[in-house]
Amino acid sequence: MRFKKHIFICTNQRDNGKRCCGQEHGLALVAAFKKELKDKGLNVEIRAQRAGCLDACDFGPSLVIYPEGIYYGNVQLNHVSEIIEQHIIGGKTIEHLKINF
Ligand code: FES
Repeated sequence: MRFKKHIFICTNQRDNGKRCCGQEHGLALVAAFKKELKDKGLNVEIRAQRAGCLDACDFGPSLVIYPEGIYYGNVQLNHVSEIIEQHIIGGKTIEHLKINF
């Protein structure tokens, strides 16, 4: 496997007035994850990238981390460090952000 973990961050943009992560700082989240992973030297093994709709729009801004398949919702820019420290490095699920479908 090329990457140990993959973070897919929804940046889907809708023009029909429906809620979408693209209008709720989805792209800024991608940039923040990329920067922090790089700053911590984790970007070789951990990949963060933009994704289309994850079908979790009501919980947005949303992302999913593989291989665990854990979805996080209502992710704000100030959650980026917490997700990297607790989940990516620490291997713990962050219960207050986890989406329970
Ligand atoms: S628009 Fe982001 S999950 Fe659907």
